[in-house]
Amino acid sequence: MPDFLISPKNPWLAPLAGFSDLPFRLLCRKYGCDVAETEMVSAKGLFYNLEQNLKYISTTKEDNPLIVQIFGSDAKIIRRAVENLRDRGYRYFDLNAGCPVKKVTKTGAGAALLKDVLNLAHILEEMAYVAGSKNIGVKIRLGWNSDSLVYLEIGRIVERLDIGWLTLHPRYAKQGFSGHANWDYIKELKEYINVPIIASGDLFTPEDGIKCIEYTGADSLMFARGALKNPVIFAQYKGCYKNRSISDLNGYERIQLIRDHMDLIRKYGGEKNPFFKMRGILSRYIRGYYRSKFFREKAVKVSSWEDIESLIHLLEEEVR
Ligand SMILES: Cc1cc2nc3c(=O)[nH]c(=O)nc-3n(C[C@H](O)[C@H](O)[C@H](O)COP(=O)(O)O)c2cc1C
Repeated sequence: MPDFLISPKNPWLAPLAGFSDLPFRLLCRKYGCDVAETEMVSAKGLFYNLEQNLKYISTTKEDNPLIVQIFGSDAKIIRRAVENLRDRGYRYFDLNAGCPVKKVTKTGAGAALLKDVLNLAHILEEMAYVAGSKNIGVKIRLGWNSDSLVYLEIGRIVERLDIGWLTLHPRYAKQGFSGHANWDYIKELKEYINVPIIASGDLFTPEDGIKCIEYTGADSLMFARGALKNPVIFAQYKGCYKNRSISDLNGYERIQLIRDHMDLIRKYGGEKNPFFKMRGILSRYIRGYYRSKFFREKAVKVSSWEDIESLIHLLEEEVR
């Protein structure tokens, strides 16, 4: 990853299973996101069935720089998966060592790697060997549970392997999303090792981003749930960073956002139900409108692209 992109000035889009697909990444980039990650993709899937799994990481020239996030637990398979992708032109890779979902951890992948730091190190070595150490990163939580925190130990490994970046979401795996992300740990890790640190966790507003960067000294940050609710968060964060005040989107701008996302989904959403994807997203964006309940009820009932167009017209009438 070029050094200049690991900077507080350059916010990242987090890997988001089911959400950080090509249309959403392009939308976020339009609103100021500088580096984006794919959702996590299975190394096994890429190894045994490459063609079928490529659809999860489809990309375009504008979708750049792009980091492909991989999950798995078998170093050899991960190495082969990364090799295949590298040969197809993908350049940057991230290892998922933070996903707490049982379906993933029971295979030894995701956050289960926090219980087997030796294997995690071995996987990173293999990835670095095929992709170049500076082109790979790893995303971790603090540890498996509250009395087995391994983030500093992993930090040292990452430093020794000269890996490009380390993302910390400062919760332990067993915590899921409960409690709060404790940024003290990000600060501590940043002071402990000499590796670019990307902050993740409870970055819901542009101001959260600024506070987190100032408090922790992290090299950059990634928006996750904050971007899902408000993809404009990247532009707003960049404005804040330059001491400009942020303005919320007005009604017209929100409608433009809906249109932008819809156009991208129609263009790049793939064959599998882009319409349903858009329907799911609509209600999210309609929150905050005057009479939002009325519009949300309409949004869940749309059954065609034409229905969505009609709903957008109604919204336009509303803000006129
Ligand atoms: C719907 C959803 C999907 C996620 N998918 C992934 C994923 O595929 N890989 C990953 O490393 N983290 C994933 N995460 C975790 C986020 O990348 C991020 O670290 C976490 O949400 C904390 O940031 P936030 O509190 O600002 O949302 C996901 C989170 C959510 C809410």
